[in-house]
Amino acid sequence: MIEFKNVSKTYKDGTKAVENINLTFNDGEFIVFIGTSGSGKTTSMRMINRMNEPTKGQILIDGEDIMKKDPVELRRGIGYVIQQIGLMPHMTVYDNITLVPKLLKWPEEKKRAKAEELIKRVDLPVEFLDRYPNELSGGQQQRIGVIRALAADQDIILMDEPFGALDPITRDALQELVKHLQSEMGRTVVFVTHDMDEALQLADRIVIMQQGKVVQFDTPDNILANPANKFVEDFLGEDRLLQARPSIQTVDQIMLKNPASVTPGKSLQDAIRIMRDRKIDSLFVTDDSGVLKGLVGLEAIDRYRKTATSVGDVMEHEVRFVRSGTLLRDTVQRMLKIGFKNIPVVDQNDRLIGLVTRGSLAEIVYDNIWGDIEDAKDLPLETTADINSGQ
Ligand SMILES: Nc1ncnc2c1ncn2[C@@H]1O[C@H](COP(=O)(O)OP(=O)(O)O)[C@@H](O)[C@H]1O
Ligand SMILES: [Mg+2]
Repeated sequence: MIEFKNVSKTYKDGTKAVENINLTFNDGEFIVFIGTSGSGKTTSMRMINRMNEPTKGQILIDGEDIMKKDPVELRRGIGYVIQQIGLMPHMTVYDNITLVPKLLKWPEEKKRAKAEELIKRVDLPVEFLDRYPNELSGGQQQRIGVIRALAADQDIILMDEPFGALDPITRDALQELVKHLQSEMGRTVVFVTHDMDEALQLADRIVIMQQGKVVQFDTPDNILANPANKFVEDFLGEDRLLQARPSIQTVDQIMLKNPASVTPGKSLQDAIRIMRDRKIDSLFVTDDSGVLKGLVGLEAIDRYRKTATSVGDVMEHEVRFVRSGTLLRDTVQRMLKIGFKNIPVVDQNDRLIGLVTRGSLAEIVYDNIWGDIEDAKDLPLETTADINSGQ
């Protein structure tokens, strides 16, 4: 188990790289640190084996404060892989794989047995151990690079963007291999990346960092289902969020189609008749091509009946709407925020195409996965005044 307790790291030049992080990693977990460049991922990871030392707080491995251990001893138990996993060209595959075990002074039989076990795990013939890297294909060399990281039987392996420089196909293959070997061999891996796909594919749990702080630490599923804030959402991207939550999509899927409407030229009597027939007390007003222009309510008709004749005379020109394709969660938040019963939906050409009612939302609203309704303050609502002024 690896524990970060109130850990901060300020470099000598005053850079606050990591600020008060608290994390617990379990044995055998695949942990991925992700975040923008400079967010403190590498610093956090390197503190685990004291390549960087915390300026505040404590890091414990199996309950023991790492600052109380001998750093050399500590690093023996922790593998470290940086960047592109390059093999030494002048050394055989065997010598490459057993590089760290050799430094650890393993006896020859133990090294040989480990090398044979590992090369079999990646489906390469044992004879390859005696070859030089350039006698293997690129893909085979990459697989050797991965097993080399596992050769010393260290319980903890740190990997800092090891696949960053690889083409996508090779990277995919190696990700699968690393994940497979890690779960099979039960190692704890702490992996740094800035690639969200890589994080989602590999991680048991993801640490999302922003400016030295942990903004979310959870499983990929939980993060997708409930991103902690806008930063995490943006980092995930709308596509991934929609994919992860197929049941929660856009307003189009729950809106009532063809809501009642009238054109401004219609008489008040016509409007009243439609309302009566459909048992409603207001109508959307659209022009001849269906563009949403406003709303007319029974109350306004009643009030101005003596002086007005047409719908256009009494209609409200400012009606809030959402656009087709708007995420349901945003719509829900807006409606709750402004206390609306329903809200019209318009297409990309401003034409009225549907109506989201509170009733249709009721069954899906009661879930806190949409987070704090306070967020809705920041979501501007378009009104038909915008459409009208644009013409
Ligand atoms: N040796 C160092 N001395 C001073 N500042 C550093 C040093 N290493 C990293 N930093 C700074 O600390 C912050 C975090 O860096 P780092 O942990 O490498 O981030 P990441 O791996 O997320 O890109 C950055 O602002 C970086 O410039
Ligand atoms: Mg880094």
